[in-house]
Amino acid sequence: MTKIIAANWKMNNVFDEADEWLDGFFKGYSANYDQFKKVEMLICPPAILLDYIDSELMEDGFQFLEEVLKKEGRTLEGVSAEEINKIVVEGRPLKICAQDCHFEESGSFTGDISAAMLKKVGCEYVIIGHSERRANHHESNEIIAKKIAAAVKQNLTPILCVGESKEIRDLGKHLHFVYQQIMQSLADIKTEKLVIAYEPIWSIGTGLTPTSEQIAEMSKLIKKIFAEKFSDKITQPFILYGGSVTSQNSGEILKIAGIDGLLVGKASLDANEFLKICSSAF
Ligand code: PGA
Repeated sequence: MTKIIAANWKMNNVFDEADEWLDGFFKGYSANYDQFKKVEMLICPPAILLDYIDSELMEDGFQFLEEVLKKEGRTLEGVSAEEINKIVVEGRPLKICAQDCHFEESGSFTGDISAAMLKKVGCEYVIIGHSERRANHHESNEIIAKKIAAAVKQNLTPILCVGESKEIRDLGKHLHFVYQQIMQSLADIKTEKLVIAYEPIWSIGTGLTPTSEQIAEMSKLIKKIFAEKFSDKITQPFILYGGSVTSQNSGEILKIAGIDGLLVGKASLDANEFLKICSSAF
């Protein structure tokens, strides 16, 4: 199964840094293209960069298309729109993922961005319910459920973040807590593609990671919830782990049963480190 590795830049990087990151990324990526293309890589930049990165990727896609045609001794003439789309859009090495969306399509919501708007700037995924948004923007499971419905309506794949605090784990209530988060966030959702990111709050940005057994226990629970409660509405989700992932621990985490990928924060700000993490998937 293809692994999904996402670079969550959070509130970091503007245009110059993004250019530098993309340069580094493409250098590393093209050097080992045959391997890297087996991994589904996502870039989750701040909202002001979404459109910019989409056009940068489009430009690179056209350069790549020219190379392919040159190699095959063809010109752009006679190449169908579908083939162009296949190479330039579907073949792009990075898929664009937003860090949040509002649940309404439009309206008086100062400072917010709707799922419909994200779709227009080339997003394919959107992170919903990250613990930093739950804590800093008071997002409840009910609000998150509405955001997921809005994302699905726009054909965006939601990455629903769940995970317990240190206090909840110490009380031994982490499984129940995550169960509740999932049940309440997906109440009326019907979708083919969903990603769940298990991100224990105590591991985000702390350098602490759960043991392999702790991660496996949670992925087993998530699979069970979907098999028992959502089998008629949601296909089994991809399960990512997030929280202090680096190239030092990514290989071990990806080996854990039921883990289909990683959501990487701090370590993803360095393009080479991100590629190193991606390379632990093959
Ligand atoms: P971190 O963040 O890798 O910096 O711990 C992960 C996340 O919050 O998605």
